[in-house]
Order: sequence, then C-alpha cells, then structure tokens
Amino acid sequence: MDVGFLQFCPVFDDPQSNLKLIKKMLHQVKPPDILVLPELTLTGYIFKDYKEAYSYSEEVGGLLTENLINVANQYNTTMAVGFLERQGKNIYNSSVLLSGEGIIGVYRKVHLFYKEKEIFKAGDKGFPLFTVDGVKVGLLVCFDWIYPEAMRTLALKGADLILHSANLVLPFYQDAARTRAIENRVFIVLANRTGVEEREGMRFEFTGGSEVVNPMGEVILKVGREEEGIFSVSINPEESRDKKVTEFNDIFQDRREDLYEGWYNRESR
Ligand code: ACM
Repeated sequence: MDVGFLQFCPVFDDPQSNLKLIKKMLHQVKPPDILVLPELTLTGYIFKDYKEAYSYSEEVGGLLTENLINVANQYNTTMAVGFLERQGKNIYNSSVLLSGEGIIGVYRKVHLFYKEKEIFKAGDKGFPLFTVDGVKVGLLVCFDWIYPEAMRTLALKGADLILHSANLVLPFYQDAARTRAIENRVFIVLANRTGVEEREGMRFEFTGGSEVVNPMGEVILKVGREEEGIFSVSINPEESRDKKVTEFNDIFQDRREDLYEGWYNRESR
C-alpha cells in the first residue's frame, strides 16, 4: 500500500483555489492509495471568532465534501482532509475520510489548541476506527498529539495506521511522532502545512516537516519546512500488528492496567 501526504500553504478563505491547487498537485504524481492533507485544508486556520468561522463551515455531505469526493474519484485515492465541519449551530475542527465512492467517516478534533477553544466545539465522538482496503485507520488532528491517550486509544482499538492532519506551530511533534509510533507500534502519516498566517493580531508560522513514521519509529519519508507537493512511500500496514519488541515483550499484552490507576482502564475503552 502507498501512503502519503500533501504539504502546502492553503489560501485563506478560498476553498475553490485550494481545491484547484490540490488537483494540480495530484495531477503531477501517482497518487498514493491513502493521502493525508493538513488540518483545515480548504479554509486556512486563523479565524476572528466563532461567527466568522461559522460562515466558512459546511456540513459533511455539502458541496465541498462532494468536490473532494469527485477529486478522490478522479485520482483513485482515499483522502483524510482537515475540514471545518458545521452541524447545526456547532462547528468542529474535523478530519473527513473519503474515497471516490463517498464519505467513509469523520473525526472531530478532541484536544483544541489555543483560541480554537473559543471557536470550535471539542470533538464529541471519541476516536473512531475506519477500514480502508482491509487496513484499520484512525484519524487525529494536530494538537491531539500531545495527549498520548489519543493515539493509544486508537492503537488499542487496533489501528494500523494513523492519519494525522496538522497545522503545527510548536516545534515538537515531528520528533515526538517517533515516540508515539514506537510506543504504539503503528504507522503515522503526518500532513502539516507550510507558510505564515497573520490575522486579527495573531501570527502563526507553520512548521512543515510532514513525514511518515513506521512502527519502529523510523522516519521513512520526510520533507522540509517549506517544501510543497504530494509525497508517498510504500508500506506494509501489517507490520503494525506485531506488538512484540523482543520475544519476551509484547507491549500491548504486557500492559498493567491493574496498576495504571484509572488510565486506560478496560471500562474506558
Ligand atoms: C494546532 O493544534 N493546530 C496547533
């Protein structure tokens, strides 16, 4: 299976331009089987307030997701795309997983970063697992990384592959992802964005460095801070299913839930 990421600098408040850019990039490569795009891919990141963000939001199944499904169909790929999701009066910082056949699932970012807390409702559907070509995939969005519980929950449910859409501004996760991959023995595909956004007295420099990490914590594909395009690598997702680090140490079977004092207890799974 080929997996990859699209790294670029979205144009703020211009979903149609961003869709055009995405299509142009897909046209230039052999699209991977699974492609991860950054957080809030179509809209950009910094919103003045809830009202402004609401005006850019759209229900899953609306025109923008239809457009993305058409793109996935045209290029025969499955995509995880950061998406400003509207449901009723609530807006979520979501990732939508879709193929040419339609929507496979949606994840709503659970751990909101900085002023996102004033705009979005925190994810309220937990950490669902989806299946793509027999491979179990879980979605995460950016700051979820700093809570090891997020990826752990997905890994304990059986995730082979984590599709992580991001707008990273802190300098940690490109390195920390190696630890997340090792401790869970999963593949991670991280799609981060490039560029700078400056609005409403806020300025963020995004750190690029999108990458694919294997269950041994080896970075098997990585690009620079400002590089743009679609990059992919071939993996065997089944490598995630072997949780043994030595013949004596199965890191999942050897977990001591009886001693973790409420963390990851069986009831919470
Ligand atoms: C982030 O969660 N976008 C930093």
